[in-house]
Amino acid sequence: MKIHSVVACDDNWGIAKNGTLPWKLPREYKHFNDFTSACSEKTKKNAVVTGRSNWKSRAPDGSTLPLANRHNFILSTSMKTTPEGSDGVAGSLKEFIDLVESDEWSQKIHRVFNIGGSQIYKCIQDSDYCGRCYVTKIKANFDCDLFICNLDEDENFRRVERLTLTSEEWEKIIPVGIQYENGFEWEVLIYEKIQKSRQ
Ligand SMILES: NC(=O)c1ccc[n+]([C@@H]2O[C@H](COP(=O)([O-])OP(=O)(O)OC[C@H]3O[C@@H](n4cnc5c(N)ncnc54)[C@H](OP(=O)(O)O)[C@@H]3O)[C@@H](O)[C@H]2O)c1
Repeated sequence: MKIHSVVACDDNWGIAKNGTLPWKLPREYKHFNDFTSACSEKTKKNAVVTGRSNWKSRAPDGSTLPLANRHNFILSTSMKTTPEGSDGVAGSLKEFIDLVESDEWSQKIHRVFNIGGSQIYKCIQDSDYCGRCYVTKIKANFDCDLFICNLDEDENFRRVERLTLTSEEWEKIIPVGIQYENGFEWEVLIYEKIQKSRQ
């Protein structure tokens, strides 16, 4: 099973400031919603997994989680009950994998997306479950105080050019090229983890 990461960041790979997103880009947020919701199988929905802190934070449109039309899971060691709107809490990545691969959930889940925050991006990107990373790079510096790893400088990742993605139908809804919104430029870049062959 692969978990794909979806994240928006600034030039410095900053993802938040003072516990929230320092930009307002409704079209970018619509892309996030469309992409993580897209599902071609009628009997299934995609799942999203998030950390306890992000679960409690606000989305750019002011709404709070859960995300509609997706199964919502939380990673937390301290939440002892499943909060309203969530489909389940897992105490570790292994516990989460066991849950979504269980007979009950595997019938209902199409793809799984990692929607952060920073601890969850790191935990999943460091793991063997890491799928592709869909990174909206906003061409500006927002003086963020929370960051994800710089995938351009991480030897475990490489950029994937859009032209090589013809086999992946579901990726065709991603906006192509530089987008202009509210005076900012943003672009969705795609990265994948380099599979290391065991000697
Ligand atoms: N720009 C973007 O695209 C984007 C996307 C998402 C979020 N954000 C921002 O990111 C911020 C939140 O990120 P964050 O790093 O502070 O927190 P976070 O990653 O959302 O959540 C951290 C919490 O998740 C739990 N956790 C982490 N790793 C775990 C593991 N391996 N197993 C079980 N539980 C685990 C822990 O909860 P317990 O303490 O309960 O164990 C930990 O305190 C918010 O400000 C949000 O706005 C930005």
